[in-house]
Amino acid sequence: MRFGGDYNPEQWPPATLHEDVDLMKRAGVNLVTVGVFSWAWCEPRPDEFELDWLDRAMDALHGAGIGVDLATATASPPPWLAARHPETLPVDATGARLWPGSRQAYCPSSPVFRDRARRLVTRLAERYAEHPALEMWHVGNEYACHVTQCWCDVSAAAFRSWLRERYGSVEALNEAWGTSFWSQRYDDFDEVVPPRLTPSFVNPTQRLDFRRFSSDEHLACYLGERDVLRRLTPDVPITTNFMANRDVVDYWAWSDHVDVVSNDHYVQGEHPRKEADLAFTADVSRGLARGGPWLLMEHSTSAVNWQPRNLAKRPGEMLRHSLAHLARGADGALFFQWRQSRAGAEKYHSALVPHAGTETRVFREVERLGALLADLEPVVGSTVATDVALLLDWQAGWVCEGDATPTCDVAYRDCAQLLHAELMRRGITTDVVRPGEDLGGYRLALVPTLTMVTDAQAAALTDFVDGGGHVLVTYFSGIVDEHDRVRLGGYPGAFRDLLGVVSEELCPLPAGGAVTVTDTSGAVVGSGHVWTEDLQVTGAEPVLVLADGPVPGRPALTRHEVGSGTSWYLTTRPDDRTVVRVLDEVLAAAGVVPPVPVPDGVESVVRRSADGRDFHFLINHTDGEVEVPVSGTDLVSGRDTGPTVLPAGGVAVVSRTVP
Ligand code: GLA
Repeated sequence: MRFGGDYNPEQWPPATLHEDVDLMKRAGVNLVTVGVFSWAWCEPRPDEFELDWLDRAMDALHGAGIGVDLATATASPPPWLAARHPETLPVDATGARLWPGSRQAYCPSSPVFRDRARRLVTRLAERYAEHPALEMWHVGNEYACHVTQCWCDVSAAAFRSWLRERYGSVEALNEAWGTSFWSQRYDDFDEVVPPRLTPSFVNPTQRLDFRRFSSDEHLACYLGERDVLRRLTPDVPITTNFMANRDVVDYWAWSDHVDVVSNDHYVQGEHPRKEADLAFTADVSRGLARGGPWLLMEHSTSAVNWQPRNLAKRPGEMLRHSLAHLARGADGALFFQWRQSRAGAEKYHSALVPHAGTETRVFREVERLGALLADLEPVVGSTVATDVALLLDWQAGWVCEGDATPTCDVAYRDCAQLLHAELMRRGITTDVVRPGEDLGGYRLALVPTLTMVTDAQAAALTDFVDGGGHVLVTYFSGIVDEHDRVRLGGYPGAFRDLLGVVSEELCPLPAGGAVTVTDTSGAVVGSGHVWTEDLQVTGAEPVLVLADGPVPGRPALTRHEVGSGTSWYLTTRPDDRTVVRVLDEVLAAAGVVPPVPVPDGVESVVRRSADGRDFHFLINHTDGEVEVPVSGTDLVSGRDTGPTVLPAGGVAVVSRTVP
C-alpha cells in the first residue's frame, strides 16, 4: 500500500534531506516522486548535467527503505531552452506566444523540445538504471494541464501531416469536415490551418480533429520518453499522472501505454457534492485501469492554492478522502507535496509537512494515515465488482460542449455525475467504461449525453440489450457520427431503434427554465431542466411525462422492451426527486441492488481479493453516528464488528471471507 508524495529536495538546503527522510520514516512514507520540476537543476546549461544532489536524495531515501518514483523532470523546461529556442514556446489561438516564467511552457509538437527531453531522460535512465531506490518512472507531469493545444506554425505543419495520415486525400477531409458549408472546401492539405481565432464559429470537425491531434501530440511526447526508459530499464514500471476529471486529452487512448494508471485529484472545497465528485473521478481512474488497481498519485492534505477560495480540510477529511480513493481501487495514496514550499507559486498549497512544522494537526493526521495504510496492506490487489457501467468518452465530451449547439447549458459530465451520485447515495458502485467495450457481466449501462457515437459503439449497446442488458440513455446522445455530422432521420440518431423513439425537434429550455415531470396518471414527480424534445414513441412506452413547457404531454422517460433486454430514454435533465424516481424504475427492472442498504451520506464500496476475501469500505461523511449491517473484522479499529457502527466522520474497512 503506497504512501507518500512529490518530494522536491531541490527547493531546500541540502541538510534538510536528512530531516525529511527521518520524518518520512516516522510517518510511514514508502514511495516519493522525486524531482518533477527539476530540469533546471539536472541540466543547468545545455548538455551539462549536475546530478549529485539527486544521487544524494536517491541514496538517502534508499537508506531509509523508501522507494522512488523518479520523475523524468521534463514537465517544465529550463529558462535556457526558451532563451536559445524561443520557437519551443507555445502559441495560443490568437497567435500570441506564451512566455516562460511559470511551467509547461513548451509546444508538444516541437522537435527541439522533444529531442532535449529525450536527452535528459536518457541521462537519467543511464545514471539510475541500477539504483536500488528506483521503483517506477514518472514521465512528465499532468500532460496538457496548462497548454492543452498549441497553435504555432510547427503545430500547424504537424497537424497537416496528421490529417494526411488520417484522411489520405483532401476529398475525404472535405467530406468529413462538411466543408461545402461556408465555402470552406480545401483544394490541398497545405491550405489547412489549426482552428485559430476566426470571425465566427470555426468548423466543428476541424476543431474536433485538432483536439484529437493535440492529444496525440502530447501522447507522442510521453511515448518518446517512455521508449527511452523501456530500452534502458526494461523492468521498471512507467507511469504518468492523469487528471481523470479533466478533458484535456483522450485518456482512453493514453491508458494502454502506461504500466500503472495513476491519477491526481483535488477536491473543490466549495463543491456541494465534493465526495460524490471525488468518487466519480476515482471510478474513472479505475475505468482507465480497466478495473485493475491504480495509484492516487496526488491529492492534498488540506487546502490547495489555485481555487478562488482555498478551504482548509476539516479534521478527518483527509483520511476520509484517502480511503474513498482506496475503496474505489487505488492501491496507495500520495500527495502533492512532501514539504510545503517556502517560495514560488504554490507556497500556500498544503503539504504533508506544513509551514508550521510537525507539531501540527496536519502532520498528526499524516502519521495516522501512514499507520492506517500499513494496516490496509491485505487490500492491495483486490478489485471492485459492480453491476452498473457508465459510458464516458473524452471525444464525445468535446463534441457535447462544442460551439453552436442547441444550448450552452449541457455540461458533458453533469448528467453522468448526477446519476453516479444517486447510485452512490444508494450504496451502488459504478464502473466507468469506454463506449464500444464489451458490457457482458453488467446488468445496466448508463449512457449520459453521449452526443457523438460511432456505428460500432452504438452496435455494442444494441448487442448488450439484445442479450438481456438494460440501458438508460439520456438527452443529447447519439446525435452525430465520429465526424460530428448529424445522423439524419430524427433524433436521437444512432439510438432511435434501440430506444423505440424519434424526435423531430430539440427544445432546450431558457436559462433557469423548468418543466413539471409527472407520472402517466398526472401525479407530480419533480422537475426537468435544460432540455426537452418533441419526442414520439415508435415502440417504447412513456413512463414519465413532461406536463408543461415547450412540448407538454411528451415523454420525459420511456421504456422499450427489445431483444431480451430493456432500453430507457430520459429526455430532460432531472432534478433530485426525478432522478430518484428514474433510478427507482430502472434499477428495479434491471435487478440492481446495493450489497447492503446504507444511510444517506455513508459511502459503501466492496473490494474483493482473488482468494475470495471482501473488504467493505464504509465512510461516514455525516455529522452523526450511523450503523450499517456489515460484519467481519474492521481493519481500521482491529476489532470484530457486526453491525458496524461508525461515529460522525468515522471510517471502517470490514474484512471477511466470502463463503
Ligand atoms: C497538480 C500538479 C502539482 C501541483 C498540484 C497543486 O496536480 O501536478 O505539481 O501543482 O497540482 O494542486
